[in-house]
Amino acid sequence: MTTLVQVEGLKVHFPITRGILLNRTVGHVKAVDGVDLAIEQGRTLGLVGESGCGKSTLGRAMLRLAPITAGKMVFDGVDVAGLEGEKLRAARQDMQMVFQDPLASLNPRQSVETLLTEPLRAHGIAYDKRTRVGELLEQVGLPSSAAQKYPHEFSGGQRQRLGIARALALEPRFIIADEPVSALDVSIQAQVLNLLEELQTQLGLTYLVIAHDLAVVRHVSDDVAVMYLGSIVEQAPADLLYDEPLHPYTKALMSAVPVPDPVVEARRERILLQGDLPSPANPPTGCRFHTRCPFKQETRCDTEVPALDDLGGGHRVACHWIAEIRDGRIQPHRVDPDATELFTDA
Ligand SMILES: Nc1ncnc2c1ncn2[C@@H]1O[C@H](COP(=O)(O)OP(=O)(O)OP(=O)(O)O)[C@@H](O)[C@H]1O
Ligand SMILES: [Mg+2]
Repeated sequence: MTTLVQVEGLKVHFPITRGILLNRTVGHVKAVDGVDLAIEQGRTLGLVGESGCGKSTLGRAMLRLAPITAGKMVFDGVDVAGLEGEKLRAARQDMQMVFQDPLASLNPRQSVETLLTEPLRAHGIAYDKRTRVGELLEQVGLPSSAAQKYPHEFSGGQRQRLGIARALALEPRFIIADEPVSALDVSIQAQVLNLLEELQTQLGLTYLVIAHDLAVVRHVSDDVAVMYLGSIVEQAPADLLYDEPLHPYTKALMSAVPVPDPVVEARRERILLQGDLPSPANPPTGCRFHTRCPFKQETRCDTEVPALDDLGGGHRVACHWIAEIRDGRIQPHRVDPDATELFTDA
């Protein structure tokens, strides 16, 4: 297998400015703070984590839509973090984004035909309008009569199909889908996810799929990465991660998902977390998760940043005590009754 996308030590720090001219920098929001990721050609990496942990910023930075403070984003052997001008434009053609709310990203006054061909015009690519628009609509399962319509004439699911068609216009090799189905009815979600999978098979696409819904990620991903406060705490092949989540944060995420069977649901282990997500402007020292971790130890956790170590089989975890937690030598502490459960609003 070849690695198509390799992210190394990626950081995105947004300056916090003050003063009438906003010319005084008083700190930084460390939205992405040292992310390492690899995605194999033709495969899907799912990215999960709480709201505000930096998923969208990471995705945008990988496509150079957010400023990269430090680190590398190697695409097909080329670090696009340092590219400018014509080289950046060429690299961008290979990498596209599908957004959560298709209406918000589509101009309501443009016909479908115009919307789908706009990326081609922007990149100065010659095309035959009718043929190309017809092909794109067919690829996403919409009739050719859709070409003359406007975005508001379509349902949510159809509009997301248009969003996908537009992303396909430049024949990219890598697509980042940021919450591609969160705005859709549950009944429509599976259809859109299936379409993404079919397109992947047909066109050999490589995906990064961002979602807060663990079920969505499991459905589409070969591998899953879990993000917490700007960095990756665990990454593994999807089945391995869901069968044996190891990082305390991943355990808490998984334990917050209700199980449909009431008997299993009543017995299921719940790992509750204390407090809220800390501010990325002032992240905790050492392991970022230590302020909420039910397995926190007196030493190391608040002083030393844990590395994302490979435990074998592509299962990587960033925790100093993972061996002890895994074999039960370290048990979770009791947490306050007002501890918050993750994703209860999802
Ligand atoms: N342009 C910006 N300027 C300053 N701070 C930003 C900017 N964009 C994002 N942030 C901050 O960076 C952090 C990460 O935001 P981001 O949108 O990447 O999170 P997310 O994981 O995608 O969340 P969600 O699940 O809600 O979409 C947040 O604290 C956010 O407020
Ligand atoms: Mg987001």
